[in-house]
Amino acid sequence: MAGDIYKKPVMFAIVSTAVILIGTAVTMFIPMMTAQMHPRIEALKPFTPLQLAGRDIYQREGCNNCHTQTVRPLRTEVMRYGEYSKAGEFAYDRPFLWGSKRTGPDLARIGKKYPDAWHYRHFENPRKFFQESNMPAYGWLKENNLDPGDVKGHMDVLGFSYSEEEISLLQERNELDALVAYVQVIGTSIPRRRAVRTQGKTTTAEIKNPLAGNQAAIIAGRDLFEENCSDCHGEDAEGDIGPSLIDDVFLYVEGDLADDDYFELINNGTEEGHVEEGRTMKGGMPAFVGDMSREEMWSVISYIRYLKNKQEGKNRDG
Ligand code: HEC
Ligand code: HEC
Repeated sequence: MAGDIYKKPVMFAIVSTAVILIGTAVTMFIPMMTAQMHPRIEALKPFTPLQLAGRDIYQREGCNNCHTQTVRPLRTEVMRYGEYSKAGEFAYDRPFLWGSKRTGPDLARIGKKYPDAWHYRHFENPRKFFQESNMPAYGWLKENNLDPGDVKGHMDVLGFSYSEEEISLLQERNELDALVAYVQVIGTSIPRRRAVRTQGKTTTAEIKNPLAGNQAAIIAGRDLFEENCSDCHGEDAEGDIGPSLIDDVFLYVEGDLADDDYFELINNGTEEGHVEEGRTMKGGMPAFVGDMSREEMWSVISYIRYLKNKQEGKNRDG
């Protein structure tokens, strides 16, 4: 009986099609209806009107032709960019912007990595921060006002909730504001990794700077500072996008901290709301753990101390 069907081609085609369709339905469509297939990170929030407007500009300008938005679960990627991407982070990404080309770095963990002011300046002229950057300048976006009606329409289509006030506030914002708002929310539903801590076996607790006052280290530190820090802290650490490093205030509280606290902060970066030594961070200082060696970090600290002593000398002498 079973063998007969092989002699009836039409019958065989119909039966096999039916079997394949049932198989497809069972293995594809049924799971697609289950909640398991649509994970959502608990902390993930739908886009606000301003963020969605920025996302539209991201797509319009083709940022995804040069930037990916997904960190693969590979050691090297996690070291460079941070926690690897989870399916549940993209529940509101319609369409997703994972991309496949990395002319520039991955942006999946860019949100809150830098302060807003850094992004405005970087979009204005990427070459100012990175001489060799081939990223186009986007400062002209600030000449374009947002169209609240247009954004509202898009929010409705995607089913995101919003208040009329949020929509009317868009009138006062331009396209660059929207792009920065969007960039600052990317990947923020996953907590930043603060576990990187210190390289090597020892902890930083109660470690003295082995290069304190070392002339060669101060000179090396100056170059490292210029390369990595001055964009945010100013040429002479007098403060700019980031706070002054030569005053007596550390994380907004009077009273300087020890070298090992400097080390920890440079190593780990900062995160909004995190408290260290009773001082609350606002966030925006990137971690340098993968980019600088221990020795380089200590050298930079020696240089900051040198600048600070110089400044105090100036203050004393009037
Ligand atoms: C031609 C390729 C190219 C395009 C298009 C491009 N970028 Fe970039 N981008 C780069 C490169 C290269 C870098 C690294 C050097 C630098 O920071 O300027 C970069 C860096 C960045 C950074 C800093 C990342 C970090 O972790 O330091 C951000 C943010 C960024 N781009 C956002 C954007 C956005 C948003 C757009 C679209 C409006 C865009 N880029 C378009 C090439 C590009
Ligand atoms: C992208 C901008 C940026 C870069 C680059 C940067 N910082 Fe910062 N830095 C900040 C911000 C913003 C804060 C305030 C952090 C906070 O409130 O959480 C800060 C805080 C600090 C503090 C705490 C000092 C205080 O008085 O509050 C130190 C020390 C510091 N940075 C050192 C460095 C060093 C050294 C480098 C280079 C290796 C560097 N930073 C690079 C933005 C930056």
